Amino acid sequence: MLSLDHLGLAADDANALADLLAALVGGRRYESEIVAEQGVAAHVLPAAAPGAPAPALELVEPTAPDSAVARFLEKRGPGMHHLALRVSSAEAAMWRAEEQGLRVLSDEPHPGAGGKRVVFLHPEDTGGVLVELCEHTDPLPEAERVPFAHDGANGTLAAYTLGSAANPPLLLLHGAAGCTERETRRLAHRLAPHFRVVALDFPGHGASDLFENVDFSSTLFAESVRATLDHFGIERAAVFGFSMGGNMALRLAHHHPERVARLVVHGACIDWSETQAEQMAVRLDVRTLQEQSGGRPAAALEAAHRDWTGLFARTERFVRALPLRTDEMRAMAEAVEVPTLVSTADRDDLFPLEAAFTLHRRLPKARLTVVPGTRHALGQTDLGALVPPLTRHLLAYV
Ligand code: CO
Repeated sequence: MLSLDHLGLAADDANALADLLAALVGGRRYESEIVAEQGVAAHVLPAAAPGAPAPALELVEPTAPDSAVARFLEKRGPGMHHLALRVSSAEAAMWRAEEQGLRVLSDEPHPGAGGKRVVFLHPEDTGGVLVELCEHTDPLPEAERVPFAHDGANGTLAAYTLGSAANPPLLLLHGAAGCTERETRRLAHRLAPHFRVVALDFPGHGASDLFENVDFSSTLFAESVRATLDHFGIERAAVFGFSMGGNMALRLAHHHPERVARLVVHGACIDWSETQAEQMAVRLDVRTLQEQSGGRPAAALEAAHRDWTGLFARTERFVRALPLRTDEMRAMAEAVEVPTLVSTADRDDLFPLEAAFTLHRRLPKARLTVVPGTRHALGQTDLGALVPPLTRHLLAYV
C-alpha cells in the first residue's frame, strides 16, 4: 500500500521557510538537523498529529556546494524537491525498483533526516518527480556509563541496553573506527524481542571516553568487553562481533570461554597481509576524509565520535600492526571451542569472501552464512537476510 511519508521542499533559506510555515499552522515546533552524508540542513514539520495520515514536510537547504540539493537549486530554483514514500525495508524497496528497471541513485541506502534510511530514484523514470524511498529506524536509548580502568587509564564506556532483562544476554560489538550508533543500532532493535541486548562502544569510539593515553590493542578492547559483562552482572553471554568486533569476540571466547555461550562473527578477517593492512590504513587517513566531497564524511564522523581524528589515527596504528599478529590470531581461532556462526556479505568491499571461508575452516565448531547483495558496512546491511540465521544460531543456547 502506498504510504506518503513526507514532501521535500528545497529552499535557499530553509530555516526561514520552516518558521513561516510553522507560524501559518499556529507556531508548531519542528525538528532541525544537519544530514552530513547528503550535505543538507533539514527541518521537518511533522504531520498534524502523531500517527495521522497527513505527510510531514521536510525543508532542505544545502550545506555543501556540490550536494544534490545545491545542484537542484541552481538548475530549478526553490520549490518542490522530492516525494518520500515510506517502506519497511530500504533494501527490499531498492531491489524491487531495480527489477522494474528504475534507476536507483545509489548502490545502498544512505542515512537521512530523523535516523531514516533512504534511497532516491532517478526522476526521469518516475514522472519527472524525484522519489525517495525511506525506512524509519529507532534511536538508541540513553547510554549507561560503565566504569573501566586499563593500563593506568580510567574512564567510562557507553553501553546501550535493550530488551527484557529476563531474556538471554547478547553482547553486540561494533567494528574498528565504528560505533553502536552507526553500526549495531538497527541490529540491537531487531534482536531486542529475543535477547537482553547490550551494545558497547569500545574505548575511544562513539560515546565512550577516549582513554587517550593508552594505545589501541586487542587486550584493551577485549578487557573493555569483560568489564561490561561484569558491570551488568552477566556471567555468560552470546556475543555478536562485526569486523574488528568479531576478532575481539573470538579473543574473549579464547581467553574466557566460560563467559561466552555462542558467537556470531560478521565481516571479520584473521589473516592480515601487508597489502590488506595498507588498504585499510588508507581508508582511515584523516586528511583524505576531510577533503572528500565538501567535508561530508568528516561531518558525519564528527557527529558519531567524541574525537574522530584521534580515533582514526590510533586505529591506523593498530591496523598497521595486524599483519605481525596473523599467526597469533590463527592459533587463537583454532582453539576457540565455542559454537560460532561465521557470516559475511557477498559483496564485501574490504575483505575477500575467502576471509570468511578461512575463518570458518579454522574454527573447530563453525557454521557459515552469506548475506546476499550487501557490502562490508553493517549500517547498510540488509538485516532481513542476516537476522534469521543469526537468531537461529544464537537461540540454540537458551
Ligand atoms: Co526526504
